[in-house]
This record gives sequence, C-alpha cells and structure tokens, in this order.
Amino acid sequence: QELQLNLEQIEKGGFEHFMLKEIYEQPEAILDTFRGRLKADEAIIKMAGVEDNMKRFLNADRIIVVACGTSWHAGLVSEYIFEDLARIPVEVEYASEFRYRNPVITDKDIVIAISQSGETADTLAAIKLAKSKGAFVFGVCNVVGSSIARETHTGAYTHAGPEIGVASTKAFTTQITVLTLMALRLARAKGTITSSEFRHHLIELELIPDKVREVLESNEYIKEIAASYKDSKNFLYLGRGYNFPVALEGALKLKEISYIHAEGYPAAEMKHGPIALIDEFMPVVVIATNKGHYDKIVSNIQEIKSRNGKIIAVVTKGDVDVRNIADHVIEVPETMEALTPMLTTIPLQLLSYHIAVMLGKNVDQPRNLAKAVTVE
Ligand code: G6P
Repeated sequence: QELQLNLEQIEKGGFEHFMLKEIYEQPEAILDTFRGRLKADEAIIKMAGVEDNMKRFLNADRIIVVACGTSWHAGLVSEYIFEDLARIPVEVEYASEFRYRNPVITDKDIVIAISQSGETADTLAAIKLAKSKGAFVFGVCNVVGSSIARETHTGAYTHAGPEIGVASTKAFTTQITVLTLMALRLARAKGTITSSEFRHHLIELELIPDKVREVLESNEYIKEIAASYKDSKNFLYLGRGYNFPVALEGALKLKEISYIHAEGYPAAEMKHGPIALIDEFMPVVVIATNKGHYDKIVSNIQEIKSRNGKIIAVVTKGDVDVRNIADHVIEVPETMEALTPMLTTIPLQLLSYHIAVMLGKNVDQPRNLAKAVTVE
C-alpha cells in the first residue's frame, strides 16, 4: 500500500495531481510535437503523413473532422486555421452523430479523426464508416499503436506523452499544434499564403512553448481568482473566432472536474439567450485577445458589466481597454491570432483545476467520467 502511494507520488513528479503536472508539461509537450517537423530557420514543415499524400490533400473537396469531447474542440480550432490559411472547407462533426446520420461522403473527402486515447468507440466507428464510403482518413492520436492509429490510412502523432488526468490538457494543446502544422504545410503547398507569411508563422509558432511557460507564471493569481468564484453555481465562457472553441473547452474543463455548470458560447450569440442569465452572481470568462474582433468583444464585455456580471478576462499583455472594465484580467503574451488558442487555453485549465481542488473534488478522476470511452 505504502509502496503504491510512493510510486504514485514519484509519477506525479512533485505535483499534487496529474492534471497540474500535465498542465505544466505543455511547453515541453508542444516542443516534442514540433520535433523533427518544424524547422523555422529553414522555413520547413515536414510531416510524412501529409507529404506522402500531398496529391490527395491538394485535390480534396473538403476536410471532415470527427472527434469527441476535448478532441472535438481541437477540431473546431482547426476549422478556423484550415479555412483561413489553407482555404480548404472544413466540417467538424461529433463522431457519435456522424456515424448514425448517413452522411454524404465521397472519395474526394479527407476525414481527420482526432483522439487522445485512440480508443474512443464513436470515433472509431465514424472512421470505419468514412472508409467504407471511400474517404481517406488521417488520424491525429496521442497513444502510439492505438486502435484509431491502426484503423486510419495515415496520420500524425501528437507526442504529448502519457496523459493520466481524465480531463484532457496537454493532449488538447498538442492536437492544436499538429493541426496548425498541417494547415501551414498545406497552405504553403497550395500557395494560399506567401512564403514570407509562412516563414512568419513558423517563427511565431516556435516561440509558443516559451510563451506558454510565461502564461503558467500567472498560476498564483489565477488561484486567487478561483478562490473568489469557487462557490458560484454557474459560469459563462465567451470567445469569438479562433477563441470560440477555447471558450467551449474552458467550460468543459470546469464542468468535468468541479461539477459547476458552465456554458461556452460565441460572444456575439450571448444576446440570443445567455444574456438573460447575467446578474451579479454570474462570473463570465471572456477571451479578449487584441487581434480579430477585439472591439466587438469589448462591447460584449460592456454589456455584461452593465448587467452586473463579474468579468474574468484573458487579454493580451499590455491591454488597457478591457482592464478598465473587467474585474480580473489574466495576460497572455502577444502572438498571431491563429496561434492564440495555444496560450488562452492555459489560464482556463488552471482556473478549473484550482476551483476543483478548493471544492475538494477528485480532479484526476472525476465522477462518472472515463479517460477513454470505449463503449457507446
Ligand atoms: C472522454 C475523456 C475526454 C476526451 C474524450 C475523447 O470523454 O474524458 O477527456 O476528450 O473522451 O477522447 P479521445 O481519447 O478520443 O480524445
């Protein structure tokens, strides 16, 4: 018994929980995902699964992403980046819906299946269906040799290392990393971005691990925010564009481990419903980085403020406008808009973690949830 406990402590590497350890592993995990693939100084991205099938990618009518849970959120982020940079139409599907919907799929479709465990039953079934209709299936998995890795035609591993905490953290940021590398590689091949834009993206991408490290330095401050809001019954998470899926992921993280009801919404949709819920008891987490729709987000924040909602904003370092209105601001370093999700996700992971710990919940093994859902 005692030996078992000690072993677990060693595995946690000095952290109180696997989840916290995995949150802190993200800079290294992203670097591992880059390894052998990203060469910013030579302006090269190398991904065998993409290179070997370049013709298919270039001729594809569209990309369909199938996934569940957090992996589905990574898929949503990729929709923005594939469409924006590589100009390939993308649809993102819950694997569980896709598999039973009699979807229209042809041999000109590329299906990207995203899965940390590589064992999710619905995702596996969606892959088999897509293959039976002639689609080419590309897997983005973390677990090497997993069922999904074997069932797909080709793919790219995330190389995040083992993820033990049930709530996914480093798997998510490394999934986004892989998908960003893919989108950039395809954008270059298609000529939808110039060589100088490509180079600029690679240089910025290479800086992300250090910037994640910088975000992690806000941990103590985020803990203080968690202490102020841990007894709230509901949370709203808002974001726009690239950060809309991050809002969904932030809300999911909180639900999963603290059992507090949370909803993620595209900020502009707030006026079509959630705004009715806002009062002085409603904390609203808003992602308001300085690029893409910044002014619109600022006016969304004003709308929350005028209804006495409490605002926790994730902003770009040096921000002034949001700081003047929000109750709390968490800064992330400046980067290109397409790369912001890898930074803005981090404070939301930490916020959920601290709230769950303060509420005495089992963060690594939340009730009713499993790390890999291998049954329907
Ligand atoms: C479960 C896990 C989630 C995960 C989802 C999809 O619900 O608790 O953390 O996001 O399955 O899992 P996958 O392994 O396919 O990414």
